[in-house]
Amino acid sequence: MAKIYVTRKLPEEVESRLSEHFDVRSWEYEDEPVPRETLLEEIKDVDGVFCMITEQMDEEVLEAGEKLQVVANMAVGHNNIDVEAATARGITVTNTPDVLTETTADLAFALLMASARRLPETSDILRKGEWGAWSPLQFTGQDVFGATLGIIGLGRIGEAVVQRTHGFKMNVLYHSRTRKPEKESALGIHYEEQDTLLQKSDFVMLLLPYSSESHHLIGQRELALMKKRAILINASRGGIVDEDALYHALANNEIWGAGLDVYEQEPLPADHPLLTLSNVTALPHIGSATVKTRLAMAHLAVDNLIAVLDGKEAVTAVNH
Ligand code: GLV
Ligand code: GLV
Repeated sequence: MAKIYVTRKLPEEVESRLSEHFDVRSWEYEDEPVPRETLLEEIKDVDGVFCMITEQMDEEVLEAGEKLQVVANMAVGHNNIDVEAATARGITVTNTPDVLTETTADLAFALLMASARRLPETSDILRKGEWGAWSPLQFTGQDVFGATLGIIGLGRIGEAVVQRTHGFKMNVLYHSRTRKPEKESALGIHYEEQDTLLQKSDFVMLLLPYSSESHHLIGQRELALMKKRAILINASRGGIVDEDALYHALANNEIWGAGLDVYEQEPLPADHPLLTLSNVTALPHIGSATVKTRLAMAHLAVDNLIAVLDGKEAVTAVNH
């Protein structure tokens, strides 16, 4: 039997499936990531690893896995893995696309609506007993219906978000590295250069992978191009936005608000400056967090381990 290491406590049905196929060792805790020293030790004699975005699968870790053939990440994003170093060692890297597309698009759109209509902020005011007498501009937000949404990064999740905008009669602009003319007519969307998209959009939504190329893609210059009434939505990876620049833009009302599901540092500390701002709608990285989708992601990671360690093609490989 092939040996695998699992970096977190998994749901029982996933664990039992793994133990039917593999000699399994696991980190046993649900809420605590495996310490790096433990991972470096455990990886030495295994053929495969089932990991989360909390593990930095860098060159040192991959090098320690002398027999390692496959790293199965339970996420669509794989910026926690040095894919180039894995490829150079013949290690297959897999992720979990598709199964989380609709769930993540739901959350991205929910975050857009919650930010526009100030849902968490006003709900908190009510709970604190601070709901003052009705007044004309009390708790007023921004309209979603008929607004212009600019999506940066038009992958599967971006397309699924576009489907959701149709009922809201939104005007959708997009920017991506490669222009996709066939999507433009099929989805009724318009390509713009990034700067133009930033200038024209009421909502700017980031749905692109994180890499050295997208690091701090949105900084002071980009935020300054946005409308004063615009809202920035980030449900991909925190590092795409320069958080210091974002804090200053929000604190000085250079943009109207931000809806964030991801941060440069996760978990985000409760005393982080961004959380002092009432125009930030903040969620704890829950894009794919439904029971059904998290199970589907875990099972897809298992499918990938089984395929590769059986000498077959991975189901959803990132490299090779
Ligand atoms: C979660 O952030 C994922 O990439 O699946
Ligand atoms: C990214 O991988 C996406 O599905 O949009």
